[in-house]
Amino acid sequence: MLNTLKVLESEVLAGIPALKSEQEVYDFRNSVVGKNGSLTGVLKGIKDLSAEDKQTVGKVSNELRDRLSAAFDARLAAIADERVEERLKTEFVDVTVPTGETASGHLHPITRALLEVEDAFKRMGFEVLESKEVTTEYLNFDAVNVPSSHPARDMQDTFWLEGKGNVLSTQTSSMQNVILKSKTPPIRVIIPGRVFRNEDIDATHENTFYQVEGIVVDKGISMANLKYAIRTMLSDLFGREVSIRLRPGYFPFVEPGVEVDFSCPFCGGEGCRICKKSGWIEFMGAGLIHPNVLREGGLDPAEYSGFAFGFGLNRLVMIKYGITDMRHFQNADVRFLSQF
Ligand code: DAH
Repeated sequence: MLNTLKVLESEVLAGIPALKSEQEVYDFRNSVVGKNGSLTGVLKGIKDLSAEDKQTVGKVSNELRDRLSAAFDARLAAIADERVEERLKTEFVDVTVPTGETASGHLHPITRALLEVEDAFKRMGFEVLESKEVTTEYLNFDAVNVPSSHPARDMQDTFWLEGKGNVLSTQTSSMQNVILKSKTPPIRVIIPGRVFRNEDIDATHENTFYQVEGIVVDKGISMANLKYAIRTMLSDLFGREVSIRLRPGYFPFVEPGVEVDFSCPFCGGEGCRICKKSGWIEFMGAGLIHPNVLREGGLDPAEYSGFAFGFGLNRLVMIKYGITDMRHFQNADVRFLSQF
């Protein structure tokens, strides 16, 4: 009988590795230790043995049962492992692999340029404040030395809002009076903002565009300070030294008023396609703040002086990236935007 058990054990152990599924293991196990199993059948004969043999065979068969049970359990565990392995191979998804299906967005070129402009001014100790898109006739015009009788009102085609003398801000200069009244000198602020003009639209004119206003007030401020600040900002932005040229220009809020040009950063001033062979790029209006504007802001022009400037951000971005049509900024065309 012991021999039969030995043979049975080696047969069963040899058969186990070939079992492929849990069900096969259960079935095989049942065919060995189940009610009508081969081992069960052999063990039924124990009762006919002598008392002495009963003891040895009983012990041996118990150990055998334990070994087989361990072998079946090991096979079940191995099958479970194989299944996990298999799933890892066939179902594994590497979530870090770029799929190419979704494009992530990025900042608009105007926003990016504005952040660079802000950084340059912040390094020079300027604060950044935002302008108001809806403002009053008083702030947009009267407070910056443009009374209603003034012909300069016609320089900017204004969107008038119904009632109450409100307008869409035509210029970030509409923030000058707010700044002068709310701060005490020394004042060093830039005010980027969206402005609106009732203009016919073409490649160089938009009804909605961005300006950056700058205002500096302290004792003894001169045009030299203006030149330095603008030259530093532009040199930062273009990554190369530029020079500044001032020409007389008229703006009601400054006296003297100037038009500011900078040397072409692309050709270094020699003349190229971008600067139209002139070596200079027309940039913005500026000047020393008019005494009327200082007074209206509650400051004594005998004590304080300051400069102000205002430039179009769209134009600056167009120059920087060689964009030829201002309408691209507003039309949200990804073919344009994805180039930045
Ligand atoms: N506000 C002017 C415009 O929109 C630009 C400007 C010119 C602003 C001269 C200034 C300045 O602060 O001093 O055309």
